[in-house]
Amino acid sequence: MRHYIITGASRGIGEALAREVGLGDTTLHLVSRGSVTELMSQISRKGTEVFSYAFDLSRTDGITILTEEIFSNIDLNEANYIALVNNAGMLEPIGPIGKHETEAYRKNLEVNFVAPTLLCHEFIKRTSGFDGQLRILNVSSGAAKNAYYGWSHYCSTKAGLDMITAAINVEHGKRIGVFGFNPGRTDTKMQDEIREQSPEDFEHVQSFIDAKEQGILNSPQKVAIMMKIVLDEDRFETGSIVSTRDFN
Ligand SMILES: NC(=O)c1ccc[n+]([C@@H]2O[C@H](COP(=O)([O-])OP(=O)(O)OC[C@H]3O[C@@H](n4cnc5c(N)ncnc54)[C@H](OP(=O)(O)O)[C@@H]3O)[C@@H](O)[C@H]2O)c1
Repeated sequence: MRHYIITGASRGIGEALAREVGLGDTTLHLVSRGSVTELMSQISRKGTEVFSYAFDLSRTDGITILTEEIFSNIDLNEANYIALVNNAGMLEPIGPIGKHETEAYRKNLEVNFVAPTLLCHEFIKRTSGFDGQLRILNVSSGAAKNAYYGWSHYCSTKAGLDMITAAINVEHGKRIGVFGFNPGRTDTKMQDEIREQSPEDFEHVQSFIDAKEQGILNSPQKVAIMMKIVLDEDRFETGSIVSTRDFN
């Protein structure tokens, strides 16, 4: 049995990935705040088992309980493959650092960096005696390598996530395939939110409006197919940050 744990599966890239991997001898574990009822019923009609976990990833003091619950639904003796996909993410607060309430910055740090890092830790700890295939995919961004005006916390947390990917590879790379993945500009709610920003808060907003108008955004489905390849085929070196450009 193959297990995929996917955070942020209620929409966008995470939802597309759930549809892409939710076939055959597979169990999905979907984490988000929003409902995944419709998605679950569509996927389970194909014979795939799906568990959902309603969880706010900004409440990182609950990560141990969340992973306990997830792993109570994974029979390690029967499983031959387990993947953790840290996909959930948020851009806000947008605008120069110092502008918003501290709570908004805390939430960004928790969702984008603390939660995925602790999930990696729990995943590695709970699979220490497992002898099947293990995969971790941390969803990165071009913002990990570029300090965009207005995205201080988004850029910093994505850079941190890339470093966790590298660190896990140094420590566990022989046992676990660990990857970062930069999906590029992808047509999801996150892009809708970017286009609504004022140039004062996010100075590159016009280029995102232009990209949508030019129809050059990636579709979530296309990105999900690439993520499945990164996870399930030995095409990329463990520890690497793969981007959609690596598929050209
Ligand atoms: N779209 C792009 O152009 C782009 C580019 C580069 C990188 N990325 C990265 O790709 C990943 C997916 O983004 P997307 O474009 O699919 O965005 P999206 O459509 O906004 O979806 C974000 C997902 O994250 C979940 N999430 C957000 N806050 C959460 C919280 N507090 N607790 C639990 N889940 C939470 C959301 O679920 P709920 O709201 O239901 O909780 C949703 O399922 C993110 O890591 C993003 O940084 C996206």
